[in-house]
Amino acid sequence: MPADAVLPLPVTPPAFALTGLDTVPDPGAVLALPVLPGPDAPLVGPGAEAIPDDLVEVLAAHGASGRPGEVTLHATPDGPTALVALVGVGEATPDELRRAGAALGRALRGRDEVVSTLTRLADDDGLRAFVVGLTLASFRFHWGSDDPAARPVRRVVLADDTSRSALLDRAVAIAAAAWRARTLATTPSNLKNPGWLAAQAADAAAAGDLRISVMDEVELAERGFGGILAVGRASATPPRLIRLDYRPRRARGHVVLVGKGITFDTGGLSIKPAEAMVNMKRDMTGGAVVIATLSALAAVGCTMRVTGLVPAAENAISGSAFRPGDVVRHYGGRTTEVTNTDAEGRLVLADALAHAVADLEPDAIVDVATLTGAMKVALGLRTGGLFANDDTLAQALLAAGEGAGERLWRMPLAPDYEEKLSSKVADADNAPGGPGAIIAALFLQHFTGNVPWAHLDIASVGDAPEAWDEWTAGPTGFGVRTLLHWLASPNPLAGIR
Ligand code: BES
Ligand code: MN
Ligand code: ZN
Repeated sequence: MPADAVLPLPVTPPAFALTGLDTVPDPGAVLALPVLPGPDAPLVGPGAEAIPDDLVEVLAAHGASGRPGEVTLHATPDGPTALVALVGVGEATPDELRRAGAALGRALRGRDEVVSTLTRLADDDGLRAFVVGLTLASFRFHWGSDDPAARPVRRVVLADDTSRSALLDRAVAIAAAAWRARTLATTPSNLKNPGWLAAQAADAAAAGDLRISVMDEVELAERGFGGILAVGRASATPPRLIRLDYRPRRARGHVVLVGKGITFDTGGLSIKPAEAMVNMKRDMTGGAVVIATLSALAAVGCTMRVTGLVPAAENAISGSAFRPGDVVRHYGGRTTEVTNTDAEGRLVLADALAHAVADLEPDAIVDVATLTGAMKVALGLRTGGLFANDDTLAQALLAAGEGAGERLWRMPLAPDYEEKLSSKVADADNAPGGPGAIIAALFLQHFTGNVPWAHLDIASVGDAPEAWDEWTAGPTGFGVRTLLHWLASPNPLAGIR
């Protein structure tokens, strides 16, 4: 039996510090300076005066233009540090600084310390984007022997105005939360099961000033969580419903976040082909996003009450597996005919949504799930799908994604396909034919009551095939930044009915 142990996070993110404008860097550090595309030749920003070499010449020799994503490393034996990193920042917009931070993070792998003046060109959004980009592009996860050259840079010193330290702390908290989600998602399923995920949620609760409660399979049965139980019943490790509560004093409203927590998706008896199963350890990414988001709410100063629900189950195969043709009874009594056991995510989410609506009095619900392969076909691998029954909520999340560097695209809850969900023997069919992502969203909508609700189908973006800006190959933690951006905004529920 796999252990329920909480494993230490195998690699820690870079540590950040803010030391003021006149910082004298340690000679062993790398000095990072911003490069802007000037009218004729690129210009080097604050800090360049300390370097004896002609940096404009150096840039010309490398064909550098100041474009974000460009990093030129230059040895300066006579400078305050032995090595300078010249980092293109373009116009220094938040998006450009995120990309610049990511490129710098990659270039600095294996190093001990960098002193950076880049954020002197950045507004507050830009500083946050730089810190998040640098951290996330440094992400690494490896269970094997340590490779010192691949480690994230240990320490990042921002030579900037020290009055920005609260801002830096929030940026670090956002980056750490996305890092946490990636770590949970990338953990292999011989270590990760529903009980393990609950233990990780307890760890997040301790870090983030949260209450945690976990329903085991006995309580789930007593209370009628038929979807979670059906999906989890073939596994040697039983399902759990994980709940995290963030309750600030004088909360301004209540948001419930629901995350799909399938710790491995074989497809069940409707088994997946081998290639399609390889990454299915990451089918709990939505749950990881919810846990990680909750862990950072206090640090980002969220004034909303937020409850996180993660229905966690392993969609395994055994003699006790649920079968095609089975009818399951969800929390609250709605029934589903299972025509495909691989459409399991919606079955566990349905229970959690129904529970939220019936028992938690939410002002809004947002679920996050690696729900449908169809999402990849529709949007490609860099854009997440957003469905919503409320335009204001949809706009708020689109804007939050935009600000946070996670692109979302709104998809239609087209009622035309509603009739496809009908079943001869139950309230709905879990996997009728049709446009897969829309059908899945329509299926979920029946469990959301009349509550403003949004659904993030992150199957398209949960997993990056290759490194790209702040994304590293593997899990992206997509959704953490959007949700934190939204929930830390002054009034996340403004205008929502
Ligand atoms: N976890 C998968 C969706 C998925 C696919 C996520 C690829 C990430 C990458 C989900 O449980 C699933 O299997 N969905 C099926 C639904 C179908 C049987 C109606 C799908 O999309 O094929
Ligand atoms: Mn599936
Ligand atoms: Zn799945």
